[in-house]
Amino acid sequence: MAGPSLILGIESSCDETAAAVVRDGRDILSSVVASQHDIHAEYAGVVPELASRAHVERILPVVHEAVARAGVPLSALTAVAVGHRPGLIGSLLVGVSAAKALAWSLNIPLVGVDHVHAHLYAGMLGLPADAPHGFPALGLVVSGGHTSTYLLQSWTSLARLGATIDDALGEAYDKAATILGLPHPGGPNLDRLAGSDGANDRAFDLPISRIAPDSLDLSFSGLKTAVLYAARGVPQGNPHKPHAPAPELTPARKADLAASFQRAACKAVILKLERALQHARQSAGPVHTLLTGGGVTANSRLRAELAQFAQHHRLTLRVPPLHLCVDNAAMIAGLADRLLAAGLASDLTLQPTPTTAC
Ligand code: KG4
Ligand code: ZN
Repeated sequence: MAGPSLILGIESSCDETAAAVVRDGRDILSSVVASQHDIHAEYAGVVPELASRAHVERILPVVHEAVARAGVPLSALTAVAVGHRPGLIGSLLVGVSAAKALAWSLNIPLVGVDHVHAHLYAGMLGLPADAPHGFPALGLVVSGGHTSTYLLQSWTSLARLGATIDDALGEAYDKAATILGLPHPGGPNLDRLAGSDGANDRAFDLPISRIAPDSLDLSFSGLKTAVLYAARGVPQGNPHKPHAPAPELTPARKADLAASFQRAACKAVILKLERALQHARQSAGPVHTLLTGGGVTANSRLRAELAQFAQHHRLTLRVPPLHLCVDNAAMIAGLADRLLAAGLASDLTLQPTPTTAC
């Protein structure tokens, strides 16, 4: 009988250098994440060239640590998986090159994994071996770079239902946080402020984007502009809004604005999930599971609203623990196990690619 699957995952698509060893697509033996937040903080956003250089410095120590912590010899690994799309091209190149070198030298399969799809798998990690995958499933990825809904028939058959037409939700959080003067990364700091004592989420009437009545796409740029106007006033010359200076942004007003932003942002996501679920049921019949992932699934309000949504629609909710919401390599290794089981190994021609497959 074949031994367990022991996959080394590598992730370097944006500003986290990560490696993990996962057994049988479920058990995390190690997961190491070296964040670059300190490097990019002064620019209030990720600087691609700095990110690539930091990945080059960190990739080997991070892989080494992941293998050491897992307590398995390199020779026991059964495959090397890498997030090869989407992402910053220079950042992806570092992880893909390291993964190819390791797979080639160990003479084991290489598996290219779509980072956005891997976010959907994060909630499966650590579950008992008999926990059902539960297809057909509705998927939601809300991260710094992507905001999309999916219909999944299996881990290798998924179709995107809708996506943001402008800012990703995490990006909107980070920009709203910058407007409020909160430090990078803004999302978690805005979440904390929105939940602070006395913060009133109805203080500001911010727009909840619907786009067209039956559109499954999302949009967050209007909400972001509304936060800007509420914080700094409406500038002169806007044909749609009369010029209006903003009152002083006191700590209480700031907390109210953060809470109001969070309310509108989460309502927009839930509204589109409702529509996506209707659409999924019409095309695939009963839907059993809601798979969620990406940095913004760490958000306290969104987690609570997703739990309510899943309960209301009788869906099994898979939402990752906080440390697996943000970028990590365990989700890459986990999904790779499913891809390998479906015969979808890559070869050494695997290319880093800036865009997602769907
Ligand atoms: O998934 P991720 O690590 O990177 C991408 O693949 O983009 O997501 C990072 C994003 C950032 O925009 C960050 O501000 C946001 O997730 N984020 C949050 C929270 N924690 C992380 N946004 C809102 N509330 C949070 N608690
Ligand atoms: Zn991500």
